Amino acid sequence: MVSKSEARLRIKELHKLVYKNSHRYYVLNDPSITDEEFDDLFNELLSLEEDFPDLISENSPTQRVGSQPAEGFKKLQHLEPMLSLENAFTDEDLEDFERRIRDRLEENEVLEFCCEPKIDGVAVNLLYQTGSLTKAATRGDGKEGEDILHNIKTIPSLPLVLDSGDKVLPELLEIRGEVYIETKDFEYLNKKLERDEDKVFANPRNAAAGSLRQLDPRITSLRPLKLFVHGIGSITPDKSLLPNTQFEMLNLLSEWGLPVNSQNDSVLGIKECIDYFKKIEHDRDQLPYEIDGVVFKVNTFKQQLDIGNIARAPRWAIARKFPAEIGISFIESISFQVGRVGSITPVAELKPVKVGGVVISNASLHNFDEIQRLDVRVGDEVVIKRAGDVIPQITEVKLKKKTKRGPRVKPPTACPSCGNALTREEGESVLRCTSSDVCPAQRIENIKHFVSRNAMNIEGLGDRIITQLVDLELIKDISDLYTLSKEQLKQLDGFADKSASNLIESIERSKNTTLSRFIYSLGIREVGESTALNLSLFFKDLNKLILAEEETLLEIKDIGPVAARFIKEFFKNKKSLQILERIVSSGIKIAPPPDEATNQQLSGKTIVITGTFSEYTRTQLKEELVNLGARVSSSISAKTNILLVGESPGSKVQKARDLGISLMEEDEVNELIG
Ligand code: IVH
Repeated sequence: MVSKSEARLRIKELHKLVYKNSHRYYVLNDPSITDEEFDDLFNELLSLEEDFPDLISENSPTQRVGSQPAEGFKKLQHLEPMLSLENAFTDEDLEDFERRIRDRLEENEVLEFCCEPKIDGVAVNLLYQTGSLTKAATRGDGKEGEDILHNIKTIPSLPLVLDSGDKVLPELLEIRGEVYIETKDFEYLNKKLERDEDKVFANPRNAAAGSLRQLDPRITSLRPLKLFVHGIGSITPDKSLLPNTQFEMLNLLSEWGLPVNSQNDSVLGIKECIDYFKKIEHDRDQLPYEIDGVVFKVNTFKQQLDIGNIARAPRWAIARKFPAEIGISFIESISFQVGRVGSITPVAELKPVKVGGVVISNASLHNFDEIQRLDVRVGDEVVIKRAGDVIPQITEVKLKKKTKRGPRVKPPTACPSCGNALTREEGESVLRCTSSDVCPAQRIENIKHFVSRNAMNIEGLGDRIITQLVDLELIKDISDLYTLSKEQLKQLDGFADKSASNLIESIERSKNTTLSRFIYSLGIREVGESTALNLSLFFKDLNKLILAEEETLLEIKDIGPVAARFIKEFFKNKKSLQILERIVSSGIKIAPPPDEATNQQLSGKTIVITGTFSEYTRTQLKEELVNLGARVSSSISAKTNILLVGESPGSKVQKARDLGISLMEEDEVNELIG
């Protein structure tokens, strides 16, 4: 073991190296070492800290995720109040803004403005003490917010220690910024939550806010949070440590390692501000995050000081907002949908209305907390907002004196589909129907899942047909699909001889499947495509999986106690075993993953995937490659042989080029897989 003083020195060096390389990776998108080299540095730090626990500092890069959930949120005072912004909705509003400032400054020279996209996220205040992050709070009422340091520290792009080279850092520096989630990451997160039948978020901002309000930082660390900083609050000793303008200050913060938006710019006069707004409005859909406008700030700090603030907002800044894509309609009814594993979601049926070019006739109300918050009722006039691809949401109830409102919406006590009692699991806000065996809605959802493209892929068996099959009691569960006859199918609306034969054929075709697809098709709670693949690679045989104990399941990659319990429960259940037996005896052929192949095209090759592919999901692609003998890894290193490049690839491409790794695109992949 090294001596303590040697360890101290090396730990300091490793902090710097880890920070520098995280910054290159997460902020600059320009890593200069491989993931493996990075892991080596990180592991060296971990192991030194293990040997010398008293040398672990709070802001060591190993300490991003604390191990204990917080007990609650403490209140924290901001040193300097967090102001809000006045809004401008038209070009004229901006011209007025400039005129007011000129009058106040008695200025004839053209004014300089700093222009910044207005990030639609959650405002935060961070305190750095001589370069070390020591406090973090939400905006709260502008004077005091909630202590969220344990969660803020999990954001990988945020430095816990600033690097100013040998320049002096302020003793105290409040940094103001916006925490957000990128649109793509948000959609991915919601899909995952939906699959797990957890509460989904209405939009990326709510997702960011919800993630920051977690008591357990281990959950926050799994959320794809990012941050842009856009200003400062209090600074000690004083502003003389900073440049003279907002734009230069942002550049300096970026040099110190803080994430700053690359779209920021400085311009001359309000006309150029209007041009900047037009450009951002035009590019808005291409930005990876949601913005709700542009902020214009008088660039020179001295001028900002001369212009001053009103009570809640500075006079020297303004937010030009985008017109929101909103519509107004009435709630005709509120219904409750039952999910595949029984979760109940309230849905508002609306009088159809066009919002941003799309006709909207229903909007998810997510859960009962949301219904209570809005107090929506049948008959209410509501504001509907649609942003990007996000599910339309009701943002406001417009109360008019004369509207006849229905009664307050009460959570159902019985399942709207099967009539059985509902339960609420501890710590969950979701109501559930647990009568999965008899509940028609869950049966239908289960069958839909079983036949879906990434599961058994039974073509031509759409939602409408499944509903009819269940309603006519031609099928009760997935195993009945394999005994359907042509005569039975001909009873369905619009079915004739040919269409019935086609469907029977496509059901037959689905009988040739792989173990991982089959496991995924069963719709076991917490078992998505990637867990199904891991299970199939581990057991290689359905019977072994059926008999596996929870302890064995826990040995498998990415399977935790919750998933292990659901898997075991599923295979212990008599009903599931009967269904499985019937499917197997219908002649289904479930191909196991190949043995460690030696003579296959890709045997011995390590492959990394980046981007998205039109023909496959990530898991399907991974499975195909494993079937060809490859090892699929998540990070690039000198040991990688091939990088598969899909649509919108990440920084891995550059990395692969730097390391001389061969690149392969989708058509070549298709050829290989055949
Ligand atoms: S400056 C004193 N700049 O918008 C100036 N705010 O409606 C205060 N926001 O609470 C804010 N992007 O959370 C500023 N580039 C940006 C911003 C921004 C988003 C948020 C911020 C603020 C709210 C005001």
